[in-house]
Amino acid sequence: GLLAKVSTPLLEWYDKHARVLPWRSNPEPYWVWLSEIMLQQTRVEAVLPYFQRFVEVLPDISSLADASEEQLHKLWEGLGYYSRIRNLHKAARQVVERYDGKLPPSYELLLDLCGIGEYTAGAIASIAFGEPVPAVDGNVLRVFSRILGCESDIASPQVKKAYRELLQEIVSRHRPGDFNQAVMDLGAGVCLPNGTPMCGCCPLSHLCTAFREGTQLAFPIKSAK
Ligand code: ADE
Repeated sequence: GLLAKVSTPLLEWYDKHARVLPWRSNPEPYWVWLSEIMLQQTRVEAVLPYFQRFVEVLPDISSLADASEEQLHKLWEGLGYYSRIRNLHKAARQVVERYDGKLPPSYELLLDLCGIGEYTAGAIASIAFGEPVPAVDGNVLRVFSRILGCESDIASPQVKKAYRELLQEIVSRHRPGDFNQAVMDLGAGVCLPNGTPMCGCCPLSHLCTAFREGTQLAFPIKSAK
């Protein structure tokens, strides 16, 4: 089908255009985890200086587990959404207790940690451990709803689940982390939410229903909550 044709041009594009980021150059599990938590509500450019400082001061999961609330608050100050750092701290202590300070290398076990949901578990499992699982966030839903011309409401949990199942089938078995990060980069830099999506630069425009029909801005369909 249509989606089977996505992986090859997407990865070729990523090889040329991937943003160079510390957690890509060194995809150790702790770095990938921390970056994904920071990136949940914050843009890459804003995250970078916080990330650098955080891993300098707390270079591994056990030092994070041992840090004081006050020290963590200072390292997070300005990023906002402070529940993220509280959950990260709790999860670090879980990882020390359960797994001797090393993140467990599987989607299912990662899901069991504080603050790690389906998206984050998929991102860590694929990027840090090479497990072929998708990481479905708002960017991914936008990119694939446009490719498919899919009018289902992405605010619905069942629809999100259907996208996860669909992407599970097409995520690259060889390069799952690159596949997921390529979709993230495409969503962040090319397949933009408003204004003009830059379809002239998109490696998937030849497969894209919304591009063909000129309906990019109609997708994704999302009901008010
Ligand atoms: N946004 C969320 N995760 C990301 C990642 N790994 N790289 C770039 N942007 C992201």
